Amino acid sequence: MTSSHVLVTGCQGYIGTVLVPHLISRGFNVLGVDSGLFAACTLGACPEPFPILHRDIRDLRIGDFDGVQMVVHLAALSNDPLGNLDASLTYDINHHATAHVAKLSREAGVERFVFSSSCSTYGKAGDEFLDEGAEFNPVTPYGESKVFAERELSRLADDTFSPVFLRNATAYGYSPRLRLDLVVNDFVASAMCNGRIEIRSDGTPWRPLVHVKDICCGIVAALSAPREAIHNRAFNIGRTDENYRVRELADIVQAEIPGCTVEYASGGMPDARCYRVNCDLAQRELPGFRPEWNVSQGIAHLFASLKNSGFTVADIASQRFIRLARIRELQAMGQIGSDLRRSTTEVRSSPV
Ligand SMILES: NC(=O)c1ccc[n+]([C@@H]2O[C@H](COP(=O)([O-])OP(=O)(O)OC[C@H]3O[C@@H](n4cnc5c(N)ncnc54)[C@H](O)[C@@H]3O)[C@@H](O)[C@H]2O)c1
Repeated sequence: MTSSHVLVTGCQGYIGTVLVPHLISRGFNVLGVDSGLFAACTLGACPEPFPILHRDIRDLRIGDFDGVQMVVHLAALSNDPLGNLDASLTYDINHHATAHVAKLSREAGVERFVFSSSCSTYGKAGDEFLDEGAEFNPVTPYGESKVFAERELSRLADDTFSPVFLRNATAYGYSPRLRLDLVVNDFVASAMCNGRIEIRSDGTPWRPLVHVKDICCGIVAALSAPREAIHNRAFNIGRTDENYRVRELADIVQAEIPGCTVEYASGGMPDARCYRVNCDLAQRELPGFRPEWNVSQGIAHLFASLKNSGFTVADIASQRFIRLARIRELQAMGQIGSDLRRSTTEVRSSPV
């Protein structure tokens, strides 16, 4: 057990909501930071309280890092569709604000900075497996913002400050702050509530998939590994045997949730994002990291969890679990401005 003090940005997101209890159960002292875009968007039982600084990462100050030894940086406009909101916001938050948080961390004496990057940095690739040495080829502002952030963080690495880049595959699985703008989760919710799965591309693009709990295990492994194993290094987080074409994912969901149909959306957009990823390095080099979930197990677990939490078609229609829709809703209600900053005063407190 450890008692390291870890600051987790984006602690009220899809991954953060699963990660924080995972870290606390392993003895980490957690301080969360989040601007609260999805604070109220919970499903099932409310997450246990823990200390949160309700603040935009763009407005963090050096004093916020007092006593912090490690940072897990999750806060971002996460996923490709959010780039449609206003691409400059994606660059501001995912690139420039990430650099801001990292520079403050380094100045404050933080030793390790775990950056939640993405396999979407590989963007438009083909059928070949890509490892960490592959060229970046992002096709969206989101993917490009992660490339820029990685490069800038890498330049900050020195004898006392160790950034590490976890290039997560596409996540899936249950979180009390669910996301339905993730392909597997979308297919499961739609199969369960509407009896149909809708594929919005021609179904051929490759995606690497990773369960949200395995992402959390990867983060713990990166926090716990010897410094020399992680210093200024990138790791693909997922499983090499868990790359699928989108249409294969629909078939697996159909097998787990019998009776649903698979359809192709009319007027579906071509999807340039296609990447097949080798994730062996992390298992070799991060002590104790053994991703355990496969897509079939994750789908069955998600299906059961949605049923247990009383998830219905009204939850799909509510848009609370679709990032872009939720942000537009907050803007329409005047709770956040065009720069996504909240008008409410920040406080250190327990969460919603
Ligand atoms: N979910 C995936 O499939 C996936 C895959 C690869 C990488 N990632 C990365 O992992 C990280 C977490 O992803 P997620 O799925 O939990 O995202 P999410 O959108 O569910 O959560 C992001 C959190 O960050 C917060 N946030 C956003 N902008 C902020 C700001 N300016 N200041 C403070 N807080 C802010 C939001 O309120 C939210 O709680 C992101 O960096 C994402 O790019 C996610």
